[in-house]
Amino acid sequence: MSAVGWGVAGCGWVARDHALPALTATPGACVVALHDRDPGALARVDVDAPAHADLGAFLATPGLDAVYVAVPNAAHREVAEAVAAAGKAVLCEKPLAADVGDAQAMVTAARDAGVLLGTAYDQRWHPAHVRLRELVPELGTVTALRIVYCCWLPADWTPDGRPHDNWRVDRARAGGGAAIDLAPHGLDLAGVLLGEDVVELRALLQRRVQDYPVDDGALLSGRTAGGVLVDLHVAFNTPDAFPRRRLEVVGTRGMVVAVDTMGQTAGGSLTLHRPDPVDVPFAGGSPFAAQFAAFSAAVAGHAPWPYDAARDLALHRLLLTALGDAR
Ligand SMILES: NC(=O)c1ccc[n+]([C@@H]2O[C@H](COP(=O)([O-])OP(=O)(O)OC[C@H]3O[C@@H](n4cnc5c(N)ncnc54)[C@H](O)[C@@H]3O)[C@@H](O)[C@H]2O)c1
Repeated sequence: MSAVGWGVAGCGWVARDHALPALTATPGACVVALHDRDPGALARVDVDAPAHADLGAFLATPGLDAVYVAVPNAAHREVAEAVAAAGKAVLCEKPLAADVGDAQAMVTAARDAGVLLGTAYDQRWHPAHVRLRELVPELGTVTALRIVYCCWLPADWTPDGRPHDNWRVDRARAGGGAAIDLAPHGLDLAGVLLGEDVVELRALLQRRVQDYPVDDGALLSGRTAGGVLVDLHVAFNTPDAFPRRRLEVVGTRGMVVAVDTMGQTAGGSLTLHRPDPVDVPFAGGSPFAAQFAAFSAAVAGHAPWPYDAARDLALHRLLLTALGDAR
């Protein structure tokens, strides 16, 4: 296969500002079509590719091999099922869906169609986290992984100053609030870094600051099959000016602290304590670009996609069960 032909379904904030700049610069990938049901969103994308408000016309684009799905959570299923039925690979944004039934249906649809389905957990691909994973064996027996991943997201939040449809705080379209939006990254990252997933999870939800009917903060406590404790604090109620993005992996012989690496962009810092602190360098590069390169390689048959959709579904079920129990 020559370059993998990508389509983007949902051309809002994450597609326009993060995914498309990475995808258009990814070797082995080219953007062949765009889709959004809002023609205004399509008009704001600065990529030279046919743009369709109609999903069927988009999916009929010659040379389309894979589709990045970046519509609001509750719309993931209808788009992903149509993409799979058209025989194209699906890279779907997190969370996999707004509920467990939709996520299960998507995994089944991809399996039945024989197409690859991946979740776009871009933070797996952040170069600091790739380096951190290599350091874990040097930490002795790992006892705990702690993540703080917070931001400020009021009811009238907008990514670019223009009026924005803030579906993130609408339970019907998002599936919840801060917890379903932010915790999937940490849960996935815990499993990727530790080599074993969280299998037990409990949640406490908070509605304390923002004026909307979904959680604006959450604490989640989990444990992996091997006994590592995993602690996540996620929030939409922490001012962006504060320190609010931190990841720690604690072992009996060492500890790694990553600051400002959780997020869509490259950068941040990595410090290894054993016990004296040493700054650990890591490569640059966009997590989205690394993600698209790996998924393109899998679609082209050059390398396997290392994350099974059934595993992503199990984590999604674990999270939504914990959040359901917390209400
Ligand atoms: N990985 C990350 O770091 C990250 C960051 C932000 C968002 N996301 C995820 O990406 C997805 C999109 O988030 P966003 O912030 O870009 O949202 P957004 O509201 O900015 O963009 C969504 C776009 O989808 C379009 N749309 C809505 N329903 C549609 C449908 N049924 N068919 C076609 N188009 C439709 C809208 O018109 C809009 O342009 C969400 O699932 C979100 O959780 C992930």
